[in-house]
Amino acid sequence: MDWGIKNRLSRLIQPDGRCFFLPIDHGYFQGPTSCLEKPGETIKPLLPFADALFVTRGVLRSCVGAVGSKPIILRVSGGTSMVGKDLADEGLTTSMEEIIRLNASAVGISIFIGSDYERQTLLNLSKLVNECENYGIPVMAVTAVGKEMEKREARYLALCCRIAAELGARVVKTYWCEKDFEKVVKGCPVPVVMAGGPKCKTELEVLEFVHDGLEKGAIGINLGRNVWQSPHPVAMAQALHAVIHKKATVKKAHALFKEIENKK
Ligand code: 5RP
Repeated sequence: MDWGIKNRLSRLIQPDGRCFFLPIDHGYFQGPTSCLEKPGETIKPLLPFADALFVTRGVLRSCVGAVGSKPIILRVSGGTSMVGKDLADEGLTTSMEEIIRLNASAVGISIFIGSDYERQTLLNLSKLVNECENYGIPVMAVTAVGKEMEKREARYLALCCRIAAELGARVVKTYWCEKDFEKVVKGCPVPVVMAGGPKCKTELEVLEFVHDGLEKGAIGINLGRNVWQSPHPVAMAQALHAVIHKKATVKKAHALFKEIENKK
């Protein structure tokens, strides 16, 4: 691996081999998502616990301070909305010059396998990899399911992750699943991080699936709504940080969550 790409990846994946990415890119298709109306305010107390931010160039420029910022994974695909025809119909939104100008540590792009736009989004990924590799910028592929949340099962996720890696993604973001998640990770030759999806009912549920996914080989999370839509986002971020970087058990992390929650 070339020095530049290795260096950028090392900003994102910590020396313990783990990572906690905080996505705040939801507005690119959802508009002002609940609890993310003012992204700059949402992230302020959470930043100490995150290793990187996943964000579009617009929110980065207008809501994230450039001085002392966490490493940035720039969301560079889009062009669709919740009220449009098909969330899968994405294109590349951000030029190579812009990615470099914003000093991105990596870029992120969605692929929609099995959708009408499978080919288009896979070619978007390939084109992005071709360009980014020239400049030592790693690409994170997001195995997106749009509104079809039932697609989150091992066979489908393993297919998506493997294809993303085959096309050159350096990191793949996918969903955790209850059954056979280890097969998803094993079939993917590059690191896998877990997304959260819509908010779970309890914080305990989130800590349990993150812990399970790490045990089964994922290197970390890219978790948004289950952090900042929690009534206690700081406690949640801290508890997740403990699971990821301090090898905390679910019981310990939940106790930590409760302790911080009760202090408020
Ligand atoms: C959708 C995305 C999201 O915008 C986001 O990055 C994921 O975060 P969450 O944990 O809220 O699902 O990439 O595919």
